[in-house]
Amino acid sequence: MLFSAVLFSCKPKQEEVPQADRLQWWTDAKFGLFIHWGVYSVPAGTYQGKQVIGCGEWIMYHAEIPSKVYKDFAKNFNPVKYDPEAWVRMAKDAGMKYIVITSKHHDGFALFNSKVTDWDVVDATPWGKDLLRPLVKTARNEGMKIGFYYSQDYDWNHYGGGSYKPKWDSVQVGSFDEYLDNIAVPQVTEILSEYKPDILWWDIPFEMTKERAEKFLPVLEPYKRLITNDRLGGGYPGDIQTPEQFIPATGFPGKNWEVCMTMNDTWGYQSHDTNWKSSKELILKLSEIVSKGGNFLLNVGPTSEGLIPQASIHRLREVGEWMKVNSEAIYATKASPFPYLPWGRATLKGQKLYLHVINWPSDGLLKLPINNKAGKAYLLSDPSKELGVNQLQDHVEISVPAVAPDSVLSVVVLEFEGTPGVLPIPTAGKQAVVSSADTSMPASNLFDGDPATFWKPAPGVLKASAEVDLGEEIKVGNLSLCETYHRGHDYKLEVKKNNKWETVLEGKTPGTGLVQDFSPVTGRYFRLTVSGTKGDVPVIGEWILNRVL
Ligand code: GLC
Repeated sequence: MLFSAVLFSCKPKQEEVPQADRLQWWTDAKFGLFIHWGVYSVPAGTYQGKQVIGCGEWIMYHAEIPSKVYKDFAKNFNPVKYDPEAWVRMAKDAGMKYIVITSKHHDGFALFNSKVTDWDVVDATPWGKDLLRPLVKTARNEGMKIGFYYSQDYDWNHYGGGSYKPKWDSVQVGSFDEYLDNIAVPQVTEILSEYKPDILWWDIPFEMTKERAEKFLPVLEPYKRLITNDRLGGGYPGDIQTPEQFIPATGFPGKNWEVCMTMNDTWGYQSHDTNWKSSKELILKLSEIVSKGGNFLLNVGPTSEGLIPQASIHRLREVGEWMKVNSEAIYATKASPFPYLPWGRATLKGQKLYLHVINWPSDGLLKLPINNKAGKAYLLSDPSKELGVNQLQDHVEISVPAVAPDSVLSVVVLEFEGTPGVLPIPTAGKQAVVSSADTSMPASNLFDGDPATFWKPAPGVLKASAEVDLGEEIKVGNLSLCETYHRGHDYKLEVKKNNKWETVLEGKTPGTGLVQDFSPVTGRYFRLTVSGTKGDVPVIGEWILNRVL
C-alpha cells in the first residue's frame, strides 16, 4: 500500500478531463445493454422446490440460503454455450452502443479471476475461466464501449460484507471496513487495472460513509476518462444519475442520467418470470427516455449455460429493426424542446427536429407548436419524398401520408431555422398558493423547473392543495407531476369556472411521476389536491400543466 502511494505521488499529475468531454461518447450513445450474470442463474429463482419472491439475483438473501449451500450452486455454473461474439452482435444489431456487465453482484461472486478470493468463476466453477475478458475484447473489436457493475457494499459471501437485513450466516459477520479493505477496494483495483472499463457502475450504498467512499478514490484516480454512476455513496455524485425501473416525468434537466430497466421483472435469470414487456413498449420507452435527454440501459439475464433468453433476443431484434430505420432520431440527439406533444415525442439535432409520432394524425396534418421558419419535412423512412409544410402564425402543419410508415412509432423530420421558439410551460415560474407547507419544502419548489426540489405539506398534514393563477386563459390538456420514488398518492386537478371549482381529472399517481393527458380545458385558475397516508405523505417535485393547440 505504502509503495503504491509513493508511486502515485511520483507520477506527474495528469490533467483532469472535463466531464462533458469524458461523457461525450456516452451522451451520444443513448442505448446500452445491461447484463446481470452470476451463480444465481443456477437456482434461477427456485429454492427447495419453491419459487422465491423477488429478483433472481437476490435469491440468496430472500430465501436466506446458507453461504455453503449457495456456493454449491457454483458447481453447476458451467456456461458452455457462452458466446461473447453473439452477445456483442446481438447488442450491436439492436442499436446499442455500450454494454455494462456485473463483475460482482451482491452475492459476492466475481466473474473474473480475483486474487483476493476463491469465490470467483475461475476458482469456484467447473468452467474455470474468466468471463469478462472475452466480452471486453469482443466489444472493443466491435467498437462498443464496456462498463462493469460492481456491488461495493452488499456482499453476502464475504466476511463483513454489507446486508440490509440482519446477517443470516456466520461467514457474513465481521467488520464492514475490513471487508472494504480486503475485498472491495482490491477487487475494484483489479477490474480497473486488468480491463480498463469505460464505466464503473457502483450499486447500492448502504453503509457507505464519506470516509468509506474515499477508500476507492485513489484507485480511480489514474483512470481519467472513467465514467461512474451515482451509487458509490458517501455524498459522491458520480457522473450519471440512475433512475431504476422508471422514467422520470420530466427527465432530469441539465443532468446526465440513464434509466436502467428489465425486460421482465428480474435482473438475474429467473426461469419462471415470463412477464415480458413487448418490443413495442421497449421502443416507446427508448423514444421517451431519449426525448427527455436520458440514456436507456436495458437488461438481459443469461442462464448458467451462457444463453440469453430467447424472449430477450427476440425483443432486441425487433428493437433493432426499428433502429435500422430510425436511429438517426436517437443517437447524438438532445432532449425535446417541447414540454409536451399530444401525438408523441421529439428529439433535436442541429437544425433538425425529429418528431416521434406515436398517434398518427387521422386528418393527415401533424401540428407542431413552434414559431420558427420551417424548412423541409420528410419521413425518416423515406427522406427523398418531401412532405408539405404549412407555416402558420403560432404553429407549423406538416402534411403526412394517410398511413403511418411504422405501426409503433414513425419519425418525421422537420428542418427549421434559428433556435426552437416554443411557448413556455403555463405553470413555469408561477407562484403557488398552498394550504400547507413544510418550512424546508416550500411551495416555490413546485414551479422552479427543478424536479429534485420538492413541495411537502407541514408535518402531520396528509391532504393539501395548491392553487395557481396562469395569468391568462390557456387551453391545457396534460398534467405532469414529478415525485420522489415511493408509493403513489391520490390527486385531483380542478379548474375554476364561474367562481366554482370543477374537477378536471383525478386518480392515483404512480409514485415515480405522473404524465397524464385529459380532454383539453381552457382556464386560468387551477387547483391540485394531493392526499397521502401516514407513512407516505404527499411530496411533489414539479406541478406542470401543458398547453395544447
Ligand atoms: C438494484 C438491485 C440489483 C440490480 C440493480 C440494477 O440495486 O439490488 O439487483 O442490480 O438494482 O440497477
